[in-house]
Amino acid sequence: MSAKKYTGLEAELYDIFRGGDDFDEIGYYVDLALNRGGNCLDVGCGTGRVLIPIAQQGIEITGLDNSSAMLNECGKRLSTEGFKADLVEQDMTNFNCEKNFDLIIIPGGSFQLLDERDDALAALGNLRDHLLPEGLFVMSIFIPFYEISHESLDGVWRLEKDEKIEGSDNRALCHSCVDLDRCENLMEVRHRFEIINNNGITESSEIKYSRLRWYGKYEIQLLLERAGFHNVTISGDFENNDMRDGHTVMSVSAVSGAI
Ligand SMILES: C[S@@+](CC[C@H](N)C(=O)[O-])C[C@H]1O[C@@H](n2cnc3c(N)ncnc32)[C@H](O)[C@@H]1O
Repeated sequence: MSAKKYTGLEAELYDIFRGGDDFDEIGYYVDLALNRGGNCLDVGCGTGRVLIPIAQQGIEITGLDNSSAMLNECGKRLSTEGFKADLVEQDMTNFNCEKNFDLIIIPGGSFQLLDERDDALAALGNLRDHLLPEGLFVMSIFIPFYEISHESLDGVWRLEKDEKIEGSDNRALCHSCVDLDRCENLMEVRHRFEIINNNGITESSEIKYSRLRWYGKYEIQLLLERAGFHNVTISGDFENNDMRDGHTVMSVSAVSGAI
């Protein structure tokens, strides 16, 4: 079991570093949930980057995550903004929601944090079991093209983000160091999260390690079919076009079998 939990500064600074929407992913999932119409489960929902805009549309949504820190932040944002969602702290490999969904989504590449193949397959089987008959599953898979083609960056620390913290004089910094196994499709990432004050002094810092798996489109299709899904479609960069060379994100959708 390879469960990685978002804690400490990684969770606290998530929205500052990763709360944006570089790929128009949020609109893609909101449209999907609106078109589908039924209830929705957001797996690895984090602080609600995609969940909250869906809840804002009046759609019945449940958020699942294995990090209490991320879910707490999501709960705070929901109550500040006056929207409702069920939030459950469970692991996607073995969760049980005791209900089924019309739509299950995994935005933001959360599925890729399952670096062990057995965990990925267990999660897909569990997700399929939580769909209604002919329910739809959609997830985002990111491909680290930049890192794949710039081998010279392997093992080199670089400054990835330097952001002002709203309502304070402090800044939030994220340095990262990536090593790729281009044969196994594994990306090992060390992040150093740091808060520095206006004198340039580090007030807190943490190093976090994660391993992410990326997939080719035929590999993910075979994995989904092995987990019992059918009608697998894969499009590129949330444009509803075929995934092709140069696209950075695959949106992968599949339908559960009739139960
Ligand atoms: C990259 S963040 C994405 C968050 C959110 N979906 C978004 O798009 O901003 C990954 C999220 O997946 C959660 N996560 C990682 N492994 C998980 C697991 N095995 N089960 C459930 N959640 C998991 C993390 O806690 C984190 O909130």
